[in-house]
Amino acid sequence: MSAFRRGSWVSLLELCWVLMGLWRLGAACPASCSCSGTRIACVDQERGIMAFPVLQSELEMDNITDIYIANQSSFSSINDKDLHYYRNLTNLTVTNSRLTYVSRLAFQNNLKLQYLNLKDNNLSSLYWRIFRHLNISNLILSGNPLHCSCENMWMKLWLGEEADAQELKCIEEGGGRKPLTRLNPPHCVVPMATLSPSKVTVQEGADVVLTCNTSGAPSPELIWNMIPLVSYNEIEASGQVSELHLYNLSSLDNNCKITCSAENIVGENESSVFLDILFPPNISKLSDAYSDHHWCIPFSMSGNPKPDLRWLLNGEPVNEGPYIMTMIHDFSEREFHGCLQLDSPTHINNGPYTLLASNKYGQDRKTVEAHFMLDPFDGGTVTEPLYYDPTTEDTPLEPPEDRVAVYVVVGIAAVAFMGFLLMLVILKFGGNSKFGIKGFVLFHNVPLEVVGR
Ligand SMILES: *[C@@H]1O[C@H](CO)[C@@H](O)[C@H](O)[C@H]1NC(C)=O
Ligand SMILES: *[C@@H]1O[C@H](CO)[C@@H](O)[C@H](O)[C@H]1NC(C)=O
Ligand SMILES: *[C@@H]1O[C@H](CO)[C@@H](O)[C@H](O)[C@H]1NC(C)=O
Ligand SMILES: *[C@@H]1O[C@H](CO)[C@@H](O)[C@H](O)[C@H]1NC(C)=O
Ligand SMILES: *[C@@H]1O[C@H](CO)[C@@H](O)[C@H](O)[C@H]1NC(C)=O
Ligand SMILES: *[C@@H]1O[C@H](CO)[C@@H](O)[C@H](O)[C@H]1NC(C)=O
Ligand SMILES: *[C@@H]1O[C@H](CO)[C@@H](O)[C@H](O)[C@H]1NC(C)=O
Ligand SMILES: *[C@@H]1O[C@H](CO)[C@@H](O)[C@H](O)[C@H]1NC(C)=O
Ligand SMILES: *[C@@H]1O[C@H](CO)[C@@H](O)[C@H](O)[C@H]1NC(C)=O
Ligand SMILES: *[C@@H]1O[C@H](CO)[C@@H](O)[C@H](O)[C@H]1NC(C)=O
Repeated sequence: MSAFRRGSWVSLLELCWVLMGLWRLGAACPASCSCSGTRIACVDQERGIMAFPVLQSELEMDNITDIYIANQSSFSSINDKDLHYYRNLTNLTVTNSRLTYVSRLAFQNNLKLQYLNLKDNNLSSLYWRIFRHLNISNLILSGNPLHCSCENMWMKLWLGEEADAQELKCIEEGGGRKPLTRLNPPHCVVPMATLSPSKVTVQEGADVVLTCNTSGAPSPELIWNMIPLVSYNEIEASGQVSELHLYNLSSLDNNCKITCSAENIVGENESSVFLDILFPPNISKLSDAYSDHHWCIPFSMSGNPKPDLRWLLNGEPVNEGPYIMTMIHDFSEREFHGCLQLDSPTHINNGPYTLLASNKYGQDRKTVEAHFMLDPFDGGTVTEPLYYDPTTEDTPLEPPEDRVAVYVVVGIAAVAFMGFLLMLVILKFGGNSKFGIKGFVLFHNVPLEVVGR
């Protein structure tokens, strides 16, 4: 009975929440639109919207994937920030309204936008840069008074045959209409950028000149992108051609991507080259061995072409095989990172390890001392700090085998000590008091003969 009552209270509470939720949603949605969790639709002709619909909270706008605006005779522009909070918007329809202006930054924050339907509006042009960062799969523009100008040339290039399928037409100066696919205004050519040479393979320290030749009408803007470039460089531009001079190329710029791009009102094009800078090996790190599944002597090195690696132990070549091998784990920060990997090494693997790195342009070597296990016949003591290399600030690493050995020895010592204590107690309180006194005396370092007597 009481359980039922509690249940009914809970459902009453829930009902309140739902009502409040509905009220909130109702209040948040613009009066002339209807909103569900993911969709906003504004189709009311009587009470039309003048501006883009906005909900009360950012969280609600985050949930919206679809906005549908139709038959809004007072709706004419999409401005910079109107769609800023609709980050998950995938479908936007504005149709049979009076849309005349779309800001260049309108979709800056709507990276998921795929379907954009702007059919039957008052757009005379749109700039391609509005969509540059997006991945639009459907763009519908029919029923707009598009001008037959170079500004709209990109639509023909982007839409291709789709322009005919949509029956896209443009309006000429005189007022005549013609299919967009026949748009061909004078001095209206998509840019081209050509970077030469297309391959740069030089030795460290060399000087190189890259030439970017651009074409297109109107004259495109030419932009070099070469971040991050370390080597000293200068740009010399004249007309449609620009030269990038690189001096004393640093090995740090190996693999750097250099891009020349050209863009104008019709579109953009770019051309890139990767710098292939040859330089001798450099081992920047060779550190103490550590254990992690396998044992690893870690190293980092650079060099182009990729250096050949060999190892020496005590000056003798290490024969690599299934139990000892060189592994490169990754290439990052311009370096190869890897391990000499050892499977269950023993004391015979101890010693100074030398890494030799060589390529056509030179070589480098570094040595590190590695201790995996004590040599049982070498009289080593357990308390000796096994893994401390004073040249590094790393804390010494104790291999587990040695840790186990320490535990065993400490354990034995503890057991022996307990035994000894026990013996003392027995001697002291045992039946034979004389013997006990002798035992006590023994404890005070009296020569053994006393005990024997
Ligand atoms: C957004 O949607 C999620 C799941 O679809 C829901 O849990 C959440 O309450 C919604 N947020 C708002 C503010 O409507
Ligand atoms: C909206 O997008 C954000 C990231 O941009 C994501 O974390 C969130 O889950 C999305 N919400 C919905 C309802 O898709
Ligand atoms: C817009 O108006 C037209 C005619 O005025 C009507 O046929 C159409 O259904 C309306 N669209 C919507 C989505 O209400
Ligand atoms: C977006 O529009 C397309 C095409 O009309 C439709 O197939 C898709 O279901 C829509 N997606 C959403 C989330 O409304
Ligand atoms: C359509 O846009 C032009 C400007 O491009 C403007 O002069 C005209 O008033 C607009 N027409 C309507 C019906 O809004
Ligand atoms: C662009 O969208 C298509 C499907 O519409 C998808 O297959 C593709 O992976 C998307 N590309 C990017 C870069 O998001
Ligand atoms: C640039 O390209 C044009 C056309 O392809 C060519 O005529 C011109 O000689 C080139 N200029 C340079 C400096 O390579
Ligand atoms: C080239 O660069 C290296 C170091 O990056 C420097 O040591 C050398 O002096 C430079 N050479 C010239 C000619 O500037
Ligand atoms: C640049 O134009 C050339 C020739 O039309 C084309 O092959 C290339 O894909 C274009 N590159 C970019 C990034 O647009
Ligand atoms: C080798 O690499 C280290 C660390 O990156 C650097 O400090 C050193 O200058 C390099 N040596 C040569 C010869 O490039």
